[in-house]
Amino acid sequence: MNNDLYAVVGNPISHSKSPRIHNLFASQTGEQLEYTAIQAPEDDFAGTATGFFQRGGKGLNVTVPFKQEAWELADRRTERAQLAGAANTLYQDREGLLIADNTDGKGLVTDLTANHGISLAGRRILVLGAGGAVRGVLGPILAEKPAALVIANRTVAKAEALVTLFAAVAGDTSLDACGFEQPCEPFDIIINGTSASLQGDLPPVSANVIGADTVIYDMMYSLQTTTFNQWALDQGATRVFDGLGMLVEQAAESFRLWRGVSPDTRPVIDELRND
Ligand code: ATR
Repeated sequence: MNNDLYAVVGNPISHSKSPRIHNLFASQTGEQLEYTAIQAPEDDFAGTATGFFQRGGKGLNVTVPFKQEAWELADRRTERAQLAGAANTLYQDREGLLIADNTDGKGLVTDLTANHGISLAGRRILVLGAGGAVRGVLGPILAEKPAALVIANRTVAKAEALVTLFAAVAGDTSLDACGFEQPCEPFDIIINGTSASLQGDLPPVSANVIGADTVIYDMMYSLQTTTFNQWALDQGATRVFDGLGMLVEQAAESFRLWRGVSPDTRPVIDELRND
């Protein structure tokens, strides 16, 4: 019998760590599957994804720049994908309907809570950025019931739009939007979801947002300390994490959805960290 086939689709895709992560999960759990990387043409994600499932493919991860198109292509969306407005996971249900899910937020929350032992409940959280990456994680963050969530962004209107969008699921969490320069009190947790570091920039936030116990989390991951995390360390932060754990945990959540099996993420995070 042939192995079940999975893949990650993006453009570019050669840098993706998803094949490595999922193949480590497969060998660890004994699941019989193959996981590859597919570069879709910029203008034909739909054809690439549809063709993959027509050939018997079981599940896709989706990355830049196709997460929104994946969401649009699906017949059904999970609640968290619906809120995220983007999908990183696709699979077919028993009737052959294409289901879109988004495991990014769950990956972030699991990394913070389970791997780093940081509870979000009752905490004051500052999120930097208001693009697709931030929208993708806000639902699962709010589900942890923080006391306050402030979304700061260069374009304040985009942060305000996210506040409007997520007001219905904010519960008792106080949810606010502002520019980067406005927050000047220490927060319990600061999450950088901007792509500023791709241009070698930093979100121009006051160093006063960092207190002695502030947890810093950069959703970005790179082999070296990220630009944002280096800035936070320079301001005296000591509890500083990057997005490697989130990357592995979002993959683990997709693997669970597809296979019904929970991989052990710790050895996979350790192996990637030692690259
Ligand atoms: P992604 O999918 O990575 O979220 P995106 O939707 O383009 O990509 O969002 C990028 C985020 O990083 C936005 O919050 C963007 O700010 P704007 O909404 O004002 O564009 C932020 N960002 C990108 N480059 C930045 C920079 N040089 N300084 C500060 N913020 C930046």
